[in-house]
Amino acid sequence: MSESFVVTVEPIGRQVVCRDDQPILDACLRAGVWLPHSCTHGTCATCKVDVVDGDVDHGEASTFALMEFERDEGKLLTCCARPRSDVTIEADIDVDDDIEMHPVEDYVGTVVSIDEVARDTVRLVVDLDRDMPFNAGQYLKFTVPAAADGSAESVDRTWSIASPPTQSRTLEFHIRKVPGGRGTDGWVFSSLAVGDLVPVSGPYGRFVLHTGQDNHTIMVAGGTGLAPIKSMLRHGLENGTYEGEMSLYQGGRSREWLYDVDFFRALAAEYDQFTYRPCLSEETPEQVAASGDDPDAYGYGMVTDVLAADHASLSGCKGYLCGPPLMVEAALKTLMSKRLFPRDIYREEFFNEGDKAAGVNSPLIRR
Ligand SMILES: Cc1cc2nc3c(=O)[nH]c(=O)nc-3n(C[C@H](O)[C@H](O)[C@H](O)COP(=O)(O)OP(=O)(O)OC[C@H]3O[C@@H](n4cnc5c(N)ncnc54)[C@H](O)[C@@H]3O)c2cc1C
Ligand code: FES
Repeated sequence: MSESFVVTVEPIGRQVVCRDDQPILDACLRAGVWLPHSCTHGTCATCKVDVVDGDVDHGEASTFALMEFERDEGKLLTCCARPRSDVTIEADIDVDDDIEMHPVEDYVGTVVSIDEVARDTVRLVVDLDRDMPFNAGQYLKFTVPAAADGSAESVDRTWSIASPPTQSRTLEFHIRKVPGGRGTDGWVFSSLAVGDLVPVSGPYGRFVLHTGQDNHTIMVAGGTGLAPIKSMLRHGLENGTYEGEMSLYQGGRSREWLYDVDFFRALAAEYDQFTYRPCLSEETPEQVAASGDDPDAYGYGMVTDVLAADHASLSGCKGYLCGPPLMVEAALKTLMSKRLFPRDIYREEFFNEGDKAAGVNSPLIRR
């Protein structure tokens, strides 16, 4: 039977009961105490805090995200650490006033549809058993079932919500197949079917649309990094929560890897404040023209190069970057070279288990 301990969160002085098999972050988010976090699997180091008092088990924290000397100095990753005594932590809780963070809860979803929308990419629609309040840009944790033959335990995988928060029960997700991946190759793309019940929890994450502003937002999405950005754009435009200009740069190798292009073109036609730039890194204007498509409808090259060529300066803008870690890193460099400060750039890297093992992390901005 598990034992429970009290976790005190300073400087706010809130106390939360946490089981000895439960990550401290999980206990806090479920109790409505918001702590900074991003990947929730010990890779990004966003959730690193100081231990003032008490003992913990560091769990599956990567040795890159929490180095040995940091453990010795009394730091922990709240997404991995489980208490071994009553614990006091000191966290840097910098929630923006314009954002209301909602407590994490468990839900049961029913799969409504799974449709292939691009190469190795599906749109998954899930109906929850009740409404879930969330912010545009947040994500859910799905429980990937254990293997029937007992060869693999159940694991959690995180996928971002692509639908707007006003649609709080029927949620859309975009999932890219990762060869050899437990959650994608081994579940969503092999056995998950319409009508299946899926246990999920959420909402998680701090990559959210900061509404009530009128800065020009530059959004850069690689692959299924489009998911949280689609939620933000729909919330900002269709729900009228964002006053400024919004620009989307969507990157893909070729047109077969891009999806929702017609959706965003229609959105750009409807909203003057929105501009859309689909970008192709491995197709040329000649190839696009030869297939009967309009070559002027795309940018050519890496999405970051197209963005850089379009703007002499991005001073005063806000950046939202999402996708594979290397793309987010490149986009960070581009935005900073165009005079954006790190504090004006929000980002979500889609770290997976391979990244965790390899220690992939951003050396540009320490978390
Ligand atoms: C905040 C957040 C939001 C995300 N949102 C989305 C989203 O909306 N859409 C989306 O498509 N993805 C998203 N992701 C990525 C997603 O969570 C998964 O990482 C991704 O879908 C792959 O999961 P998987 O279980 O298939 O692969 P994993 O099982 O994680 O494996 C990934 C790769 O690593 C290899 N690997 C596994 N374990 C090890 C190991 N120990 N050592 C070395 N290599 C290993 C595997 O063979 C595979 O090639 C998000 C990630 C984060 C952090
Ligand atoms: S949220 Fe804890 S390491 Fe990423």
